Amino acid sequence: MSLEVIVLAAGKGKRMRSDLPKVLHTLAGRPLITHVLETATALNPRAIHVVCGRDGAAVQAATGGDAVRWVVQAEQRGTGHAVQQALPGVSPDAMVLVMYADVPLVQCETLRAVVNSAGRGGLALLTVVREDPAGYGRVLRDSEGRIEAIVEERDASDDQRAINEVNTGILAAPAPALTRWLARVTNRNDQQEFYLTDVAALADHDDVVVHGLVAPTREEVLGVNSRQELALAERVYQRRCAQTLMQNGVTVMDPDRIDIRGTVTAGRDCVLDVNAVLEGTVNLGDRVTIGPNNAIRDASIGDDVVVLANCVIEQARIGAGSRIGPFARIRPGAVIEEQVHIGNFVEIKNSELRAGAKVNHLSYVGDTTVGRGTNIGAGVITCNYDGARKHRTEIGDDVFVGSNSQLVAPVTIEQGATVGAGSTITSNVPERTLAVTRARQRHVSGWRRPSKDTKR
Ligand code: UD1
Ligand code: CA
Repeated sequence: MSLEVIVLAAGKGKRMRSDLPKVLHTLAGRPLITHVLETATALNPRAIHVVCGRDGAAVQAATGGDAVRWVVQAEQRGTGHAVQQALPGVSPDAMVLVMYADVPLVQCETLRAVVNSAGRGGLALLTVVREDPAGYGRVLRDSEGRIEAIVEERDASDDQRAINEVNTGILAAPAPALTRWLARVTNRNDQQEFYLTDVAALADHDDVVVHGLVAPTREEVLGVNSRQELALAERVYQRRCAQTLMQNGVTVMDPDRIDIRGTVTAGRDCVLDVNAVLEGTVNLGDRVTIGPNNAIRDASIGDDVVVLANCVIEQARIGAGSRIGPFARIRPGAVIEEQVHIGNFVEIKNSELRAGAKVNHLSYVGDTTVGRGTNIGAGVITCNYDGARKHRTEIGDDVFVGSNSQLVAPVTIEQGATVGAGSTITSNVPERTLAVTRARQRHVSGWRRPSKDTKR
């Protein structure tokens, strides 16, 4: 029997108090529904059907989901009704797994176990035991532990409400059986909705076994209905990421203070200090140290690099043994070779810094090549923009650019040249030459500066 997944995503998500469809709120930087579709895809189903509401177009656009079949449930008349909208498109020989776009943390292995149980004949439900079952459908079992029904809280008796085993909503059953049961579901309940959960009692009534699998953890089946639950889910996700990094040999100073919003690979003995936010694809070599409060996106960082506190690094490559920060900003297109030092309040954009170059304090380096071993003094600015176009600055190897100089691009400073401090360089400097443009120093001896006490 081949597998088809139905993902329910039509709910309005009122408790989010948001203009954005709930399933587009992000977990680890990506929409909730994207996580669920990824997990569903990993099960290798023949098809994925997503049931969305009237805001479905926005959801479709945001997930770019060509690989799934979209079904619109124009009116939210209950979970059973939602599944019914998708069933006509499911092939009659399929095993159906029902998932929820707002339950983003469920694991493949758990879902496989549910599908496998249903495959042994019957209906399989994923349940979970909660200390506080309030708000959930309760699982009713007979004296031998067989599931007889699920009853929603608002329809439950006091005795039933005392039950701690609740329905996660996730279930699997063969398509024909599900279709038959759903045709018999009524909306005679407190909410006047067509409940998917009623299939449990109908299966039991037909003498079909209802398998109840208890989810390994409560976290895994956490549903996101509010911003509080979104924050909870985010932490669960991040703790998982931190565990994986640690298992792979990364020291994570505080697993509760790290945010991975993408894919991170790391070599041996890397250290991540607190409040690292790593986004997109970040590759760390061996023995990389990322200090506190660093935001790094889509970057490749070589062996033995130290990134000190409070840097922003985006779409950049940093070569082995380099030292970045504190307080540096490395912008897109920065290619930094080995053993480069970039210090505090330095901004690098679309520039190559060759091995051993140093830009240690308060500089802007944009659209520039900095040669090997070249030293850029404090407060140097490459003036790359004339108000209309960007221009390049070429700086050779072993150049020394004195502090507080401006290099007005396009301009070339050849190898071995020196720029005197405080210069404004507008034409090319030949190799091994000193260029100074500042006014000569004058002395006015005996000059008295105005003073507040001076009587006029
Ligand atoms: C549902 C279950 C309950 C379970 C709980 C777990 C039913 C009747 N009850 O209750 O037993 O404990 O989930 O979280 O199934 N949806 C649609 N179309 C609809 C209605 C819902 O797509 O017409 C989607 C929602 O977007 C949501 C999911 O189905 O993702 C669950 O719906 P919701 O209304 O939140 O059900 P609960 O009352 O939480
Ligand atoms: Ca819910």
